[in-house]
Amino acid sequence: MTSHIAIVQGHPDPARHHLLHAMADAYAEAATAAGHEVRRIEVAKLEFPLLRTQEDFETGAFPPGLEQAREDMRWAEHWVFLFPLWHGTMPALLKGFLEHIFRPGFAMEYKKGGFPKRLLAGRSARIIVTMGMPVLLYRWYFGAFGVRSFEHSMLGLAGIKPIRESFYGLSFADEQRRSRWLDEMRDYGRRAR
Ligand SMILES: Cc1cc2nc3c(=O)[nH]c(=O)nc-3n(C[C@H](O)[C@H](O)[C@H](O)COP(=O)(O)O)c2cc1C
Repeated sequence: MTSHIAIVQGHPDPARHHLLHAMADAYAEAATAAGHEVRRIEVAKLEFPLLRTQEDFETGAFPPGLEQAREDMRWAEHWVFLFPLWHGTMPALLKGFLEHIFRPGFAMEYKKGGFPKRLLAGRSARIIVTMGMPVLLYRWYFGAFGVRSFEHSMLGLAGIKPIRESFYGLSFADEQRRSRWLDEMRDYGRRAR
């Protein structure tokens, strides 16, 4: 079955090609070759201000620089997020982007006195994170809190299910291991997972 996939590159560096970019390329190429449709969003290359007030969140003008990204995310039924772990969570640039995307009417419909309606049900997601520390340390010692809060407070709350995660620790990663990771991306891409 053909899937619509949005790949959101959350590495804040607009200039260099990092491992996360190679991972996104591998995922996208395999997905396209398998017949899925892919749209790509490079957050580092988008122009937008940070949200500063509740009024901005609720009724402020939506940044024109994010219109296409929001449309691509609405179009997709599977979202792939890639980001480097920065201070235990996603880089601020990606969080700033998502705060706009998740404004009322897109992810949640807020009702006075009631629980917000989830608008993203039927979609799934994969979160791909690289980190300096060993993955076991992030999972077991730090409880992966930064990624958990993204999963629960943003994606899960809006109805996205399942949410899969893939963590990669760079400290002991040689060329062979990195190339295995790219194969893993191709496998996910082929299966739109
Ligand atoms: C500002 C900053 C904060 C970081 N915080 C963490 C962290 O909390 N835990 C961790 O394991 N690695 C941390 N790192 C390492 C990055 O996760 C790692 O370098 C990145 O995943 C690899 O991508 P890159 O080198 O291609 O940018 C941090 C790096 C930077 C620049």
